[in-house]
Amino acid sequence: MTNPRSTIDPHAEVVLVLDFGGQTAQLICRRIREAGVLALLVRPDASFEELRAYKPKGLVLSGGPASVYEPGAPRCDPAIFDLGVPVLGICYGMQLAALLLGGRVSASGHREFGRATVRISDASDLFATVPESTTVWMSHGDQVDRADGFEVLASTLTCPIAAVRHRGKRFFGVQFHPEVTHTPHGTDILRNFVYEVCRCSGAWTMADFLESEVERVRRVVGDKRVICGLSGGVDSSVVAALLHRAIGDRLSCVFVDNGLLRKNERALVESTFRDHFKIDLHVADAERPFLADLTGVTDPQEKRRRIGHRFIEVFNSVAKNIDGAEFLAQGTLYPDVIESGHGHAGTAAGIKLHHNVGGLPAELGFKLIEPLRELFKDEARRLGSVLGLPDALVWRHPFPGPGLAVRVLGEVTKPKLDVLRDCDEILLEEVVAADLYRKTSQVFAVLLPVQSVGVMGDGRTYESTIAVRAVETQDFMTADWSRLPYEVLDRVSRRIINEVRGVNRVVYDISSKPPATIEWE
Ligand code: XMP
Repeated sequence: MTNPRSTIDPHAEVVLVLDFGGQTAQLICRRIREAGVLALLVRPDASFEELRAYKPKGLVLSGGPASVYEPGAPRCDPAIFDLGVPVLGICYGMQLAALLLGGRVSASGHREFGRATVRISDASDLFATVPESTTVWMSHGDQVDRADGFEVLASTLTCPIAAVRHRGKRFFGVQFHPEVTHTPHGTDILRNFVYEVCRCSGAWTMADFLESEVERVRRVVGDKRVICGLSGGVDSSVVAALLHRAIGDRLSCVFVDNGLLRKNERALVESTFRDHFKIDLHVADAERPFLADLTGVTDPQEKRRRIGHRFIEVFNSVAKNIDGAEFLAQGTLYPDVIESGHGHAGTAAGIKLHHNVGGLPAELGFKLIEPLRELFKDEARRLGSVLGLPDALVWRHPFPGPGLAVRVLGEVTKPKLDVLRDCDEILLEEVVAADLYRKTSQVFAVLLPVQSVGVMGDGRTYESTIAVRAVETQDFMTADWSRLPYEVLDRVSRRIINEVRGVNRVVYDISSKPPATIEWE
């Protein structure tokens, strides 16, 4: 078993989540952490001994895509029910436990996906404080159809055994998913499990995560040096601050100024990391080679490819002059791990091909350190605040690796980048001033390859068009366009046209994703 936190404080309370490959396994951990208890994801086949070594207060068996009778379906060690701690099975986890403890699972005639109303018949522990009739999120084909040895705690019209408690063992099962927001009382159910059933005291905070991660990094790195590539975004900034806390001046950061950055981006990175944290920061001035590579290129994927290659080359040339570096720290977050199909169970379907140009190939020869691998974006932000990063970095909207090159449509040139930078700055200033920055997920300007006729004073103009893009999204896989107030759009438009030479028209992008994407290229 990969032991994600072998340095966890032996006195810390921990709930272990066995990952059977469901997309929401890490979400279960996150909900439990939000409730104030450390939760860690572990392999589904971890042995009794391996699990016992953690001294867990409870176990959760996650959902998963398999059917329990399918050949090769993941199983847990049946001995875990004798560990002496409560176990909660969710969906597949409930079905597996039912099978191992004497119940029966059938491919139900009613596949259930989506909202269902559950009736609770026993609210003594798991469902304490949950209304008798409540909405839950179902996503299953099979279900438990015989529950000898169990008490039924809840049912729906099509799923008579929707929640159970074992009569002899401290096992609970729910067929639905309490971890998703579509189950409005799901958090209460998970809280009841950790507090009422597992008797956790709930003292865990993000500061504890920081402490244990700092310990782990120190142990792994020993007396070696670590390089961290900074992008100006939240994730790499949090990683750099965490590593600095762990190993001090044995951290070297590399920031590649590719000439495709937003206004003041480099200055923010320099003032935060070099001036405030006193980190050994190496800035590569690489605007010239990046822009030379982009000359004459209009195809978006070709832009990405060239920027990606140049990035590796520039990064490498800086990194090889940093003596004794053995490790490379990266800000990989849990959604990146799951999207690349590398969850603990190895079964989570690969959903999205990553087009990240900030990625570095294994051939560089560094060992990887990824302290945020188990966190979601908002948890990484909270960690950033605990580490003392400025709000301007912690709450920064995501910015693509290829930067403004994919926001200058068509060929990228320095004069066009300068125009776009000025427009983008005005847009962000107005969004911040209207207190809308935290309410939106990504806001930016795009320079269109379109000239149109205008009139300024007495003269006719023939100048560029700027598109304003503002979206709201949870996961960036789907997004809706933001309903920015007309007054804000009006100020943005007036200011851009009045203050930026070469632009005479501003348009607002009102497409959602899908079918549009967030970026224009
Ligand atoms: P799309 O345009 O695919 O964007 O809807 C989804 C999210 O990904 C970002 N994005 C990128 N990030 N390299 C990156 O690191 C890229 O090439 C890239 N393309 C898009 C985009 O800004 C949005 O947050």
